Amino acid sequence: MTALISRPARPLTGAAAVPGDKSISHRALILGALAVGETRIAGLLASADVLATVAAVKALGAQAEQGENGDWRVYGRGVGGLAEPQGVLDMGNSGTAARLLIGVVATHPFTATFAGDKSLSVRPMERVMTPLRQMGAQFTTRSGDCLPITITGAPSPVPIVYELPVASAQIKSAVLLAGLNTPGRTTVIEPQPTRDHTERMLGHFDAEVVIMEKPGAPGAKEITLTGQPELTGAEVRVPGDISSAAFPLVAALLVPDSKITLTGVGVNPLRSGLIETLREMGAAISIDNPRNEGGEPVADLTVVTSGLKGVTVSGARAPRMIDEYPILAVAAAYAQGVTRLEGLAELRVKESDRLDAIVRGLTAAGIEVEASDDALTVKGGGGPPPGGARIEARLDHRIAMAFLVLGMAAEAPVEIDNATTIDTSFPGFADLMNGLGAAVAAQKEG
Ligand code: S3P
Repeated sequence: MTALISRPARPLTGAAAVPGDKSISHRALILGALAVGETRIAGLLASADVLATVAAVKALGAQAEQGENGDWRVYGRGVGGLAEPQGVLDMGNSGTAARLLIGVVATHPFTATFAGDKSLSVRPMERVMTPLRQMGAQFTTRSGDCLPITITGAPSPVPIVYELPVASAQIKSAVLLAGLNTPGRTTVIEPQPTRDHTERMLGHFDAEVVIMEKPGAPGAKEITLTGQPELTGAEVRVPGDISSAAFPLVAALLVPDSKITLTGVGVNPLRSGLIETLREMGAAISIDNPRNEGGEPVADLTVVTSGLKGVTVSGARAPRMIDEYPILAVAAAYAQGVTRLEGLAELRVKESDRLDAIVRGLTAAGIEVEASDDALTVKGGGGPPPGGARIEARLDHRIAMAFLVLGMAAEAPVEIDNATTIDTSFPGFADLMNGLGAAVAAQKEG
């Protein structure tokens, strides 16, 4: 366990490129494994979560390797061509790897066992098993609906029309990926739009995906995939992860006299709810050089220290910034007035119970905060909060990083008990932040 301490930073200045997008990295590897021929991936996030997917696609019979220039090459087995793995597929901390790969295996006629770490082993999996059973997959689980899970894929998969009961891109993706090796059309209906990287990348690999507004339901979408396409190996350029950029971005807003530029950040509108919210709070963020890379919108973000004010954010925006609530709550702690965040029930089933982790962490750092089942209220004082807390990271990378950012401008340093978890999404976080002017250092435990 590595404990880290974050002391007040010098003004943050300069430019940095955050590591590749985690969601897109998983999907590039998985579709590469299901395509015929070579897939080349530039900018793949080589974090623990994504390396779990690399190991899994190899165990399922695809080849994946990193070339000397850093790009990854995947040689796929074609849709339906994966092979039964010999050992248990270890998903580590990654819910995305687990749920997406369970979807893939659901329509391959073999048996595989998925396991994960302590955090992942208490996260709900029934949400993917329900639709995948309808497609013909069979599951054996312990009591509860958590990993480890053994799945036997459907020998004769059945296409379904499935309406998501929760706004989750992972459930949507599990069903669509299962639909790849299913004859006919598989449709997912999403009442609230969620990140659409799977749909975009399926198109990029030559699958036929049709997206329509659901008649009579404003904002709802119907996504239909035509099964058993021949996927062709593709070139993928993974943009910087906006969910990682969120940490230096908020840090620069809070640390006095800062100005930083984050280059090549993915700004997919279904991921960029945090930028909208921070702007409503008064943040000066400019989005420059917008471009399209491999089917995803990308831009450079420049951020200047800004006085923030409290706002109310309705649950309608939650799917577009679902991973950003820990760092948004930190921004709210510095804002003038009350920030109310609604529609947060899903935070309870992330890498930790994030609502609880945020409340305990902010309280320990001297900030007034309250939570209900699915809402959070943070009372900001319009300046540096007390800080001076030691926070349990609870195998949750985003909790760890959010509280290290809190310590960058608080009155007293903030410590994290175990920062190893940061490597699941943002290897090099402390070095990148320190390169901009932060003071994050190892702390002897105790
Ligand atoms: C992800 C979807 C989201 C998000 C997670 C990554 C994805 O989870 O929280 O970090 O890559 O599809 P849900 O689908 O559970 O909302």
